[in-house]
Amino acid sequence: MIDAVIDEIDGRMIRVGDKWLADFASCNYLGFDLDPEIIAAVPPYLEAWGTHPSWSRLLGSPALYEQIEERLTSLLGAPDTLVLPTITLIHLSVIPLLAASGTVFVDRRAHKTIYEGAELATLRGATLQRFAHDNLDELEALLRADRGSARLICIDGVNSMTGNAPDLKAFAKLAREHEAILYVDDAHGFGVMGERRADETSPYGMRGNSIVRYAGETYDNIVLVAGLSKAYSSLAAFISCPTEMKRLLKTAAPPYLYSGPSPVASLATTIAGLDVNDHRGDALRADLHAKTARVLDALDRLGIHTPNHHGFPIIEIPIGHAEQIGAVGEFLFDHGVYVTLAAYPLVPRSEVGFRIQLTAANTDGEVDQLIDTLGALANGFDLQPAERKAA
Ligand SMILES: Cc1ncc(COP(=O)(O)O)c(C=O)c1O
Repeated sequence: MIDAVIDEIDGRMIRVGDKWLADFASCNYLGFDLDPEIIAAVPPYLEAWGTHPSWSRLLGSPALYEQIEERLTSLLGAPDTLVLPTITLIHLSVIPLLAASGTVFVDRRAHKTIYEGAELATLRGATLQRFAHDNLDELEALLRADRGSARLICIDGVNSMTGNAPDLKAFAKLAREHEAILYVDDAHGFGVMGERRADETSPYGMRGNSIVRYAGETYDNIVLVAGLSKAYSSLAAFISCPTEMKRLLKTAAPPYLYSGPSPVASLATTIAGLDVNDHRGDALRADLHAKTARVLDALDRLGIHTPNHHGFPIIEIPIGHAEQIGAVGEFLFDHGVYVTLAAYPLVPRSEVGFRIQLTAANTDGEVDQLIDTLGALANGFDLQPAERKAA
């Protein structure tokens, strides 16, 4: 299940060689990649704009960018938004700019691409400080001791391995107290989690407008980065920040100045996705939540440990013996279940295992198949027992 060639898809079923498998490795959380309304929206955009603009954004941006930035700003309730091709490019260009010659504080479990941006910042004169995952006390001590001219705190929103979200309110408070910028990568939360309301259709909240709104926070001292390549199934990403910062990025961020832009089809599926999100998004999120809850309940029944205790659709299952990861992968493959394997040294030995992702496009039958397979796996292999959950 590494470096596989997918020969064909049928809904969320995929064919690898002559084997059909249910795909639980997709990050298309809302199922927009397969949504007929979104697919049908693309051809008119291609007719109007061709396949690819090819100008860097500095040179010229199709008006579609303006529409997307305005709609994202309004959905998120953010001060302003800049669209760039990928989150990786945003981290690599924006983290060094914001850290300048100050200090960048990085959560030890932050995504690898944040680290890459932070390491680049150190080459330009910034100091890198790491703090233990979600450890506000350690972060506070580092902030107190810091004498740097600029302070940037980098964390993930919904974590790509554990499926849990940080206490954003507490991080934001700390950032404001220490005049720092809190830089949050919510690649996995955007489109899934959103503002909490009395009439919400699921505990994910409403509108999928990301972690800042989910936490009931303002954007003061917060820069939000997220991508459209997961929940929105489109090759693009964005940074929500004050207008002044957006202006700075338009003159100083290499991906705005020099990179090729997102393909027109991706701009089209973003706009169509925003439309679908407006009228069907909350129903899709309720369905996604129900499917995820079925799997989490089954793990509880089977006594299998997962670090996921916030209910978001990323479910990591560490195995008992790291050296069995190959055999576990083969077992899942033979049972027609496709997941993401997390092998050593990509993760520490104690966390070697696999990650399941649910999407609204997975059928109930596929979820049944997954649950049956997890039961059989627990009979054949040592998985970590659920008691570890509290650890
Ligand atoms: C948390 C997180 N940040 C960033 C990325 C990279 O995103 P992009 O493909 O837009 O560069 C990923 C992709 O898996 C991710 O999970």
